Amino acid sequence: MSQTTHSPTDIALHTAPSFVDTVRRRQSYRDFLPAPVPGPLLREVLTDAQCSPSNCNTQPWNMHIVSGQTRQDLSRALHEANKQGQVSPDFFWDEKAYRGAYGERRQEQGGIYYRNLGVARDDLDGRAAAGARNFSFFGAPHVAMLFMPTVGDGVRVAGDLGMYGQTFLLALAARGLGGVPQTVLGLYADTVRDVLGISPDLKLLYGISFGYPDLGAASNRTPMGRADLSESVTFHS
Ligand SMILES: Cc1cc2nc3c(=O)[nH]c(=O)nc-3n(C[C@H](O)[C@H](O)[C@H](O)COP(=O)(O)O)c2cc1C
Repeated sequence: MSQTTHSPTDIALHTAPSFVDTVRRRQSYRDFLPAPVPGPLLREVLTDAQCSPSNCNTQPWNMHIVSGQTRQDLSRALHEANKQGQVSPDFFWDEKAYRGAYGERRQEQGGIYYRNLGVARDDLDGRAAAGARNFSFFGAPHVAMLFMPTVGDGVRVAGDLGMYGQTFLLALAARGLGGVPQTVLGLYADTVRDVLGISPDLKLLYGISFGYPDLGAASNRTPMGRADLSESVTFHS
């Protein structure tokens, strides 16, 4: 779908940004170069992510990183499950439940993604194909699957996994790498557990495809905007 325009070496040249640059320039990428992330670099990223805060320091994240042949096998199994409609989410997902401003932002995000790929609003096949790119991990050489133990209603642990996921994404960004969180992978929890041989006691919250982003790809062209602070923050004094 996209042509490679940046090599990993090019990208390494503009690494080590400030913290503020790292936070503000991080974005979700949906096209990657095929080059794998070197093992020592990946361990640095994971060591950063391990510094994430959690309720009572319980550190309930359980991360499975999938690469190489297993990544190929998992991608094939996910495409097949998607084709057969074999969804098996551990956690309920209802996009229609996002109403008002939340629903508008959700639609705007999807619109930008499809437009960047040149997929028209009424092109249902094109939209399905664009959505199915999730199961090819957008060409990333690695996908991390974030599992959690069952503790109460799961909300506190899910909050901890959110903290962990963002630290992981920022640690990637700080090194010229990038990723995209993917709830859609969590909709096929049984498929992922089967391929990776994971106990049903561990619940799949989301995945993160990651690697060296293809900065020239159309899908990566438009950074998503954010609401004004006044829509999210209330000051009390
Ligand atoms: C928990 C979570 C799940 C997400 N799931 C998906 C997904 O399944 N597929 C996808 O393409 N993007 C997914 N995204 C990426 C969001 O669309 C993206 O974060 C949002 O549009 C803001 O854009 P930015 O990350 O580039 O700033 C997810 C993001 C989060 C935080």
